[in-house]
Amino acid sequence: MKKRKHTTPAPAARPGASRSVRTAAPPATAGPRLIEPAPGRGGRLSAVWIVVTVASLCLGGVYLIRSAGHFDARVYHPYRSVEELAILQPKAVADELHTVGRRLYHTLCVQCHQPRGQGNPATFTPPLAGSEWVLAPDPGRLIRILYKGLYGPITVNGQSYGQAAMFAVGDQLPGNDDAKAKQIAGVLTYIRSAWGNQAAPVSVDQVNAAHAQFKDRTTPWTEAELQAIPETDPE
Ligand code: HEC
Repeated sequence: MKKRKHTTPAPAARPGASRSVRTAAPPATAGPRLIEPAPGRGGRLSAVWIVVTVASLCLGGVYLIRSAGHFDARVYHPYRSVEELAILQPKAVADELHTVGRRLYHTLCVQCHQPRGQGNPATFTPPLAGSEWVLAPDPGRLIRILYKGLYGPITVNGQSYGQAAMFAVGDQLPGNDDAKAKQIAGVLTYIRSAWGNQAAPVSVDQVNAAHAQFKDRTTPWTEAELQAIPETDPE
């Protein structure tokens, strides 16, 4: 206390020091003044933030309203839209047909065509692996062979066969027409993609469309008859 009392009047007492007191005084008052505008600036900043926040909320709202139609209860992560699901759907169907077909192959076809589709010369059975009949882009002839059977000479992979016949698989399959079509689409989808074969899957629609053209036929096909059937563009 004593020290302060002593130092305050001291500069006034010295004439040379009075200047420095005056110049020193304004910073002392400028101090609070400098701080004072800060809340004002802060106020402006808060206003800016409020505007930005409100604008973001509005834009978010507009986005939600505009995309309302796209939030479909049927679509879950990781899928984004019904369209995307539709694109993936055929693959799922083909996968299911492939499973149905593999099972059928290993119960109904394997004893003649063998586990790797290599055929069997001992029973005059041609191969399915690499067969130009199996790999044809249009599955129309395959669908015919499966429903009604095949007999007589046939060339597969450059080799002639014909001493044995292939029965009408369609007659042996269980179930109604739809169930048969599904099994035939399945086994064809399977043999076209097994053992290194790489041909497009066969759909139930393709099977039904082809079958409608020869439904009432009662005899097996010959190679010549099959070759006379024009191949249409595959779907
Ligand atoms: C009892 C034996 C036997 C069974 C079972 C059999 N096939 Fe065949 N398959 C043959 C014979 C034999 C031929 C050739 C007929 C000919 O020489 O005219 C043939 C021909 C074929 C051909 C056309 C030629 C080729 O090799 O590409 C296809 C395709 C075919 N079979 C698919 C099947 C499928 C699919 C199954 C099962 C659903 C099946 N076969 C079951 C004996 C059989």
